[in-house]
Amino acid sequence: MTKNIEKNIAITGTGLFVPPCAISNEQLVNSYNGYAEQFNADNAEAIENGDLEAMEMSDVAFVEKASGIKNRYMMEGEAVIDPALLRARLSKEADDDIYGEPVSLKMSLGAAREAMEQANISGEDIDLVIFSSSVWERIVPSIACEIQNKLGTKGFAYDMAMGCSSATFGMSAAMDAIISGMASRVLVITCEYITPLMNHRDRDSHFIFGDAAVAMIVEDESISQAPNPFRVISRKLFTDFSKNIRAGFGTRMMAEEGDDVMENPDWRFSQSGRTVFRELIPAVINHVKTHLSDEELEVSDLRRMWLHQANIHMNQMAGRKLLGEEPTMDTSPVILDEFANTAGAGVIIAFHKHRADFKPGEVGVICSFGAGYSIGSLLVKRI
Ligand SMILES: CC(C)(COP(=O)(O)OP(=O)(O)OC[C@H]1O[C@@H](n2cnc3c(N)ncnc32)[C@H](O)[C@@H]1OP(=O)(O)O)[C@@H](O)C(=O)NCCC(=O)NCCS
Repeated sequence: MTKNIEKNIAITGTGLFVPPCAISNEQLVNSYNGYAEQFNADNAEAIENGDLEAMEMSDVAFVEKASGIKNRYMMEGEAVIDPALLRARLSKEADDDIYGEPVSLKMSLGAAREAMEQANISGEDIDLVIFSSSVWERIVPSIACEIQNKLGTKGFAYDMAMGCSSATFGMSAAMDAIISGMASRVLVITCEYITPLMNHRDRDSHFIFGDAAVAMIVEDESISQAPNPFRVISRKLFTDFSKNIRAGFGTRMMAEEGDDVMENPDWRFSQSGRTVFRELIPAVINHVKTHLSDEELEVSDLRRMWLHQANIHMNQMAGRKLLGEEPTMDTSPVILDEFANTAGAGVIIAFHKHRADFKPGEVGVICSFGAGYSIGSLLVKRI
């Protein structure tokens, strides 16, 4: 763990970009079931002979009960709920290509502008942009460099990734840059344009994710122009290799034999949900407890926990074990009912939407967890 030894560092602004298509469980499940029924009808003979497995139906009540998710936002929601497609697909009218106007750029700029406004700064006040997301729309040139170019920020910019902990690890990298003197004001963006990676024909995971982008201004507190920012008391990061949350998408796809490369489910997201639940939650509880004791703080010193937003039962269990009582919207706010799992962005959406009531001196913890495995926590105090 690295403490803020020489400088106080604060989060002085956050921003959120919400994609245009709201998709309910009913819409998603009806589309999936429409596709599955057609598949079963088209392949009735092979299914009857035992050569092919019939697709099982998805269920609205299961989705809400198992996950707590009721809705999600998507950039290409209409294509995802088209039973003939069931996958994200850019419209034919999209006249710019991936090097012209990437989807993630639009999402990132929307979030960044709100964060900059909150922090009372403009592009030229920023000297580092970190694009830290679990998915990237393209490999090079860096999306961070393109954001730097569009916003007119100074210094340098780079992309990084750490699954669902991308925002917390990104803010930690921003703090390192400030402590070392390489930067004084950093824009961190976690843009999860993640639904194209999902296999919406997979009943077990078709409902889990939504798209969203968040932005955070992390800066040397002595130059902050924001009223009552959140000082980062300290941060703590943890990783432990696991294949239980996986997406094989990458350069190897292009080296695979055969022409049906996009049909290989290994490239898409999949997980062993129950195992993740069982392994990750105890690690998260231990992590937060250790982080607090490192700072000679008690759980009772926490006004609020902003937790990663993947599954309501995970958050309830973590909250219950940490707080010693059932978490409430006040002690551990939930946004996954509206946004679903937005990978690295979820924990910051919770912080963005549920912090205005914090009084000076009150302390909270921002804690992400997920693929890697990875856990990242920041103890913050309103000043
Ligand atoms: C994915 C998750 C929601 C699944 O919930 P679950 O209660 O564990 O459900 P299971 O996968 O054990 O499935 C239970 C049953 O429902 C069925 N089922 C799965 N998806 C279904 C769907 N969409 N509709 C209806 N039934 C479904 C399963 O086939 C299984 O049936 P069976 O009992 O006959 O075998 C849950 O495990 C989870 O969210 N885990 C944490 C994962 C996580 O947060 N990962 C981090 C990602 S960043």
